[in-house]
Amino acid sequence: MSEPELRVVEDPAAAVAELLMEAAAAGGHVVLTGGSTPRRAYELAAERDADWSAATVWFGDERCVPPEHPDSNYAMAEDALLARLSSRPEVIRIEGELGPDAAAGGYEAEIRARLGGEPRWDLLLLGLGPDGHTASLFPGKPEVEEHSRLAVGVPLAGMEPQVPRVSLTLPALNAARAVVFLVTGEEKAGAVARAFGPVPDTGLPSALVRPRYGSLAVILDEAAASRLA
Ligand code: 6PG
Repeated sequence: MSEPELRVVEDPAAAVAELLMEAAAAGGHVVLTGGSTPRRAYELAAERDADWSAATVWFGDERCVPPEHPDSNYAMAEDALLARLSSRPEVIRIEGELGPDAAAGGYEAEIRARLGGEPRWDLLLLGLGPDGHTASLFPGKPEVEEHSRLAVGVPLAGMEPQVPRVSLTLPALNAARAVVFLVTGEEKAGAVARAFGPVPDTGLPSALVRPRYGSLAVILDEAAASRLA
């Protein structure tokens, strides 16, 4: 089990853009995250325009909205990154518009068909919520306890936008070769300390992301790191 490597940097988005480009150019399976923080990293990666043609892009979670909806994680990635690339990767989105259970079932089947039951994603990007959630795994919710499925429907989101979601589960996240959290801002500092400090609070889903075979890095700015001892 990997211990987190904490990387406090001046420009976390630039550091993540670099990792995205490397994984893409190597033809890797790259898992993108939603939320607002990664947009800048996606835009920077798009500006640098590596060869993404051999890469496969996946998503860690999705909101149950149509793919062109402003709340769609796919829509954000498309707008900030995918549509801007001159060589497009294969993109496997979560079909949130089908509803949480059907979309999760379809996504799980796709993962198993292509990567098997231990999907060794080459780079899996995650965000962190102030409550310690990651992907759409929220503290105290049953989806955090899932031990066999790779993707689950999340009927009740723990935050805005309050729409059902689909999320990769801990077994799927922890099968990655490299997990990278991108976290910025003072409002995340408490969650960073609880999830990645010396004594992780295992009540937080993010504290349970510890890849079985790979590395775990947390790329953060000084504000997000400010409560680490
Ligand atoms: C989502 C997410 C979620 C996100 C965090 C951080 O679909 O909302 O994937 O886990 O990464 O909530 O989001 P922000 O970057 O907007 O703070």
